[in-house]
Amino acid sequence: MNFLFLGDIFGKPGRNLVRNQLSKLLKEFNAQFCVANIENIAQGRGLTEKTARVLFEAGIDAFTSGNHLWDRRESLEYLQSEKRITKPLNSPTPAYGAEFYVIEKSGVKLAILTLCGQTFMGPANSIFATFDTIYPKIKAITSNILVDIHAEATAEKRAFAYYTAGKVTAVIGTHTHIQTADEEVLDGTAYITDAGMTGPHDSVIGVKKNIILEKMTSGMPKRYEVADSGMQINGVVVTFDENTGKAQKIQRIKREYDDELGKKITC
Ligand SMILES: [Fe+2]
Ligand SMILES: [Fe+2]
Repeated sequence: MNFLFLGDIFGKPGRNLVRNQLSKLLKEFNAQFCVANIENIAQGRGLTEKTARVLFEAGIDAFTSGNHLWDRRESLEYLQSEKRITKPLNSPTPAYGAEFYVIEKSGVKLAILTLCGQTFMGPANSIFATFDTIYPKIKAITSNILVDIHAEATAEKRAFAYYTAGKVTAVIGTHTHIQTADEEVLDGTAYITDAGMTGPHDSVIGVKKNIILEKMTSGMPKRYEVADSGMQINGVVVTFDENTGKAQKIQRIKREYDDELGKKITC
């Protein structure tokens, strides 16, 4: 079987790309499951119930997240009831969101969970110890397990992939918004350091580049705005044996579009 994972969906341009292109991608890659990172869907900062609903309706089964998950106070109540959005499990505070979620389709289960890195990130407990605690609980349900390792440091993501190699189906990095070209299968575990960003790439990781440049060169605070050009869908497709949970193949996706409707594919 195959699952499609989309890197951080950024703002309205990212949402529109998914709405307009996802069904075609699922068909093209024969993907039975679709998971995406949700932390930037509402103007780059967190989510709202309305924006999440649009993406569920577009065909995403469940979401991983990251450090921006709780940016919007108005979404906290929604996160308490929506089980298909997984919170960073190793957050040190009582946090809103599901610990993990199990998608079930045609009798096949795929579990997803999110862990946030500790290096150059906010407060977080050990990704290794947290994984060890939750793993037996998930393994008792299914061997098909997707871990989103939401982290800044390449070394931390790669070390975690070796730590879990052979135990989970996939370890997929997110958070930097820049896709890496190091996809590989390690002892039955598909790995990539970062899946990239679905949204406007003519930007500094999703934000209008002139705003970031003004901020960085002047040192003065600036109000961020979502960029509106350089549309891309970034992600990976993982092929796995649903009986063993072992990954067989990981394929990187980096599609460029002329606009957020995805009218014309240029490469
Ligand atoms: Fe992000
Ligand atoms: Fe992040």
